[in-house]
Amino acid sequence: MELNLKDRVAVVTGGAAGIGEAIARALAHEGCKLCILDRDENAARRTAESLGNGALSSAVDVSNADLVSNALEKVAENHGRIDVLVNAAGVLSTGFVADLPVTEWQRVSQVNLAGIVYCVKAAIPAMKKQNGGRIINIASVSAERGGGSVGNTLYGATKAGVVALTKGLARELGPDKITVNAIAPAIADTAMTHKLLTDDALKKILARIPIGRLAALSDIADLAVFLASDRANFITGATIPVDGGILTT
Ligand SMILES: NC(=O)c1ccc[n+]([C@@H]2O[C@H](COP(=O)([O-])OP(=O)(O)OC[C@H]3O[C@@H](n4cnc5c(N)ncnc54)[C@H](O)[C@@H]3O)[C@@H](O)[C@H]2O)c1
Repeated sequence: MELNLKDRVAVVTGGAAGIGEAIARALAHEGCKLCILDRDENAARRTAESLGNGALSSAVDVSNADLVSNALEKVAENHGRIDVLVNAAGVLSTGFVADLPVTEWQRVSQVNLAGIVYCVKAAIPAMKKQNGGRIINIASVSAERGGGSVGNTLYGATKAGVVALTKGLARELGPDKITVNAIAPAIADTAMTHKLLTDDALKKILARIPIGRLAALSDIADLAVFLASDRANFITGATIPVDGGILTT
């Protein structure tokens, strides 16, 4: 299958580690020129250096609209375009709403939801100018379930917001040939989740996944590559679960 991704310019937020890094590697493997946006400056630089093909990194906290706007303006200036934006930067929240300070909602929503709004707004001018683009948001199965297995209610609410944002943006940007889709993974073992995956928790989670394992990073990255490619020209506004069937149980 011809993906036509060679020399496409791809920005991946949260691309220094975990799911974002796996997506960045998979896109680089298909020949994309990567820019990693991550608040962890050293990890972002290390990842970019290891990708080759002129990959760049930028130390950006996606919850800071000005930093995001400057960084994406620079990418568009340097490369002349932004073909793909993957919004993978995210933070987890755990615990009951009744027990958490209101600042916890501000923290998690500012990164998981507002961060995507800022990145999309900053990428739109370049994508409109070039008459097309791909936006891929990382949601979560917790959007359907209101949190649950790992993330809490607040986390699930931010991810449900990502699903709604994905649909609305698809409608707004379709006429400019910009597609907007989301991937909803079930649990993958990354720095975000590792501590919570105790033997007991893992047993309970696996019992609910018909395919009987956690998500591999490549399961998620493979779908991101497809959605970024010309093969997905007519798919927009969709949130696609990569969950081993957890939403059926
Ligand atoms: N791991 C899972 O089980 C799972 C399941 C469903 C969805 N997700 C989602 O996938 C995405 C990636 O998660 P992960 O498991 O790879 O997490 P991770 O913690 O392993 O990696 C997240 C990366 O995002 C960066 N980041 C965090 N906050 C940032 C900010 N404000 N600005 C810029 N960069 C920031 C981190 O530095 C890190 O490099 C998140 O949106 C998460 O909610 C994860």
